[in-house]
Amino acid sequence: MPNESSLPQKPVALRVVPQPSDANVHGDVFGGWIMAQVDIAGSIPASRRANGRVATVAVNSFLFKHPVFVGDLLSFYADITKTGNTSVTVSVEVWAQRMRLQDEVVKVTEATLTYVATDHDRRPRALPAID
Ligand SMILES: CC(C)(COP(=O)(O)OP(=O)(O)OC[C@H]1O[C@@H](n2cnc3c(N)ncnc32)[C@H](O)[C@@H]1OP(=O)(O)O)[C@@H](O)C(=O)NCCC(=O)NCCS
Repeated sequence: MPNESSLPQKPVALRVVPQPSDANVHGDVFGGWIMAQVDIAGSIPASRRANGRVATVAVNSFLFKHPVFVGDLLSFYADITKTGNTSVTVSVEVWAQRMRLQDEVVKVTEATLTYVATDHDRRPRALPAID
């Protein structure tokens, strides 16, 4: 079992291991691939809060703090930080366990994205009330 003692103690939205096909020409993981996974992870609590489809309207911030390597075990944590009439803003942190089996745990990326609840015509839709 990997040592997860330093990972955030909260539910993980997504876990994935980047493959050689996700690397850039230098052999490290391509930033665009990480951005796509962050977008997917952030959309999970957003669509749950919207109780339906959402569209990404903005990437408010995105910081690649440390490189990601092929074979790392990546854990994505996604928390809603703000809601509006139609929008949900989510903070996403990405943590890497180097080569899956080693003890080194590193926060590699942090980002904030905003999603908008949309209807079947792809127009903004008010968020449902919370029970
Ligand atoms: C998402 C989309 C439906 C929103 O439609 P819109 O007419 O621009 O919506 P509005 O101007 O009414 O804004 C809707 C909400 O988004 C928020 N918003 C708009 N631009 C924003 C920005 N740059 N940053 C943060 N929030 C933003 C608004 O504040 C509003 O939130 P609120 O209702 O909670 O107050 C539309 O912009 C769209 O289809 N964009 C493409 C989405 C897409 O394809 N994403 C995938 C990436 S390719």
